[in-house]
Amino acid sequence: MAAMKKYFWDSEETEYMLKVLRELDIAKHLDGRKVRNLKLFKVAEKRMKQAGYHRSIDQIRHRWKVLKTSYYSWNNNQQTVKLTRFPQYATTMQSIMDESETWSRSHGTNSGPVRIRNRPKPTVHDEETEDSEEEATAAQSLHDHSTVDVIIKTDPETPPEMDSNLRIGFIGAGNMAYGIAKGVLQSGDVPPTNVKVSAPSARNFGRFQELGVAVTHSNAELVSSCDLVFVAVKPHLVTTILSEITDCVTRKHIIVSVAAGVTLATLQGLLPFDTVVLRLMPNLPCLVQQGALLFSRGTRARQEDGDLLRSLLQHCGLVEEGPEAWIDIHTGLSGSGVAFVYLFAEALAEGAVKMGMPSALAHSIAAQTVLGAGQLLRDSGKHPAQLRSEVCTPGGTTIFGLHAMEQGGVRAATMTAVETATERARELGRKSAPTATENRK
Ligand SMILES: NC(=O)c1ccc[n+]([C@@H]2O[C@H](COP(=O)([O-])OP(=O)(O)OC[C@H]3O[C@@H](n4cnc5c(N)ncnc54)[C@H](OP(=O)(O)O)[C@@H]3O)[C@@H](O)[C@H]2O)c1
Repeated sequence: MAAMKKYFWDSEETEYMLKVLRELDIAKHLDGRKVRNLKLFKVAEKRMKQAGYHRSIDQIRHRWKVLKTSYYSWNNNQQTVKLTRFPQYATTMQSIMDESETWSRSHGTNSGPVRIRNRPKPTVHDEETEDSEEEATAAQSLHDHSTVDVIIKTDPETPPEMDSNLRIGFIGAGNMAYGIAKGVLQSGDVPPTNVKVSAPSARNFGRFQELGVAVTHSNAELVSSCDLVFVAVKPHLVTTILSEITDCVTRKHIIVSVAAGVTLATLQGLLPFDTVVLRLMPNLPCLVQQGALLFSRGTRARQEDGDLLRSLLQHCGLVEEGPEAWIDIHTGLSGSGVAFVYLFAEALAEGAVKMGMPSALAHSIAAQTVLGAGQLLRDSGKHPAQLRSEVCTPGGTTIFGLHAMEQGGVRAATMTAVETATERARELGRKSAPTATENRK
C-alpha cells in the first residue's frame, strides 16, 4: 500500500477532493456546519484512493473542515486571515455552499451552511441554525454512490457554538500535546494561527509548525497570549511550571492539566484561587483521533467550561466527564490500558509465529484484529461477552482457545492490572500534593 502523504495538500489533490465531495452531493448533507454522515467521507476516501490519492478518512474530513472554515471566515469578514491562504478554492466552496442553501430551502429544512460566531454583519441568508435530532436523522438518508458497506454513525451531540477567536496554548510539545492539538484543529473551528505551543527545546516543534501552530520557548508568553492552556508536561514538572506561570494567569484563563496523578487540589493550590481548572486524562490513541478521554472540573470551572473542553476535544475520540475519583481509574483502564492491549496484541502475534506464520504478517494481522474487534465492540453497542459468544461455535476452535486463556488467568490478571495501575495513579497523586499553601494567591 502506498505510504500516507504528509500533512500538507497540494492544489491538484484538494481540487480532486472537492470534485469527489461534490459528486457525492455533500451540499445535501450539510447540517449546520457539520457533515452529518461519515459514510460520505468513507466513500470519498475510496474514490480518492482509486485516483491515486492516498488520504485517510480523517485527513479528508480535516481538509474539508479547513476549507469550510476558510469559507466562513471569508464570508464573515473579507479581511480575515484564512481566505488569503485558500483563494483558489473560494469559487468551488461558494458553489457548494450555495447548492446546500438552495437544497435546504427547497426541502424546507433548517440545515445548510451557517455562519460562525462574531460575524460582523449577518444577513437574512446567514441565519445561525440550531442542529436538531430530526435533522441528524434526516441527513442520514444519504444517496449511496458506492458499494462500501460500513456502519453509519452520526456525529455525537452537537457541540456548543465556539468562539472563533479562542486562543489555545500547550505547555509541553510532547506526544500528548501533539495528539490533542491535531484533534482540536480537526474541528475546523479553531484556526492553527490561534494555537501556540511552548517547550524548552525546539526538537518537537517541527510537527506543530507543520500544523501551522506558533511555537515559543516562553511558558509565560504563551499563557499571556492564550485563553485556554493545556499543561502537557511530565507530572514531576507541573509544580515548577505552574509556579512559573501563576503571575500570568487571570480569571479569563482556563487551565487544563493532562498530567497523570496531579490532582485538582494540587493544581488549584498552585494557581490563583479563582482560576478555572480542569483535569483531563487522555490516552495515546489521541494521536490518531481515537483516544478515550475523561475530564473533571475543578471548583471554579462551570458547566460551560466543561462543554467548551468537550467541544474542542470532540475529534480526539470519546470524551466523557466524571468525578475526579474516576480519573485514576480511567488512568488504569485506558491510559495504561493501551499498553495492556499492546501486550495482548504482541502475545497474539507470537502465538501465530510459534505456529509458523512470518512475524511481520502475524503482527500486522494481530493489529488489525485488535482494531476490528474494538471497532465492532464500540459500534455494535453489544456487551463483550455477547460478541464473544457469537464467535464461539460449540466444540469449535474459539471455545478451546478461550478455555486456555481462562486457565492461564488472563481475566484475573487483566483486572488486577487495572486495579494496580489505578492504585499507582492514586499513590502518585498523593505524592504530588502541594506542601502547605504554595503559591496560593
Ligand atoms: N503519553 C501518554 O500516553 C499519556 C497519557 C495520559 C496522560 N499523559 C500525560 O501527558 C503529559 C505529557 O506526556 P507526554 O507523553 O506528551 O510527554 P513527552 O512526550 O515527554 O513531552 C513532554 C514535553 O514537555 C516539555 N517540557 C519539559 N520541560 C518543560 C518546561 N519547563 N516547560 C515547557 N515544556 C516543558 C518537553 O519539552 P522538549 O520538547 O523540549 O523535550 C516535551 O515537549 C504527562 O504529564 C503525562 O502524564 C500522557
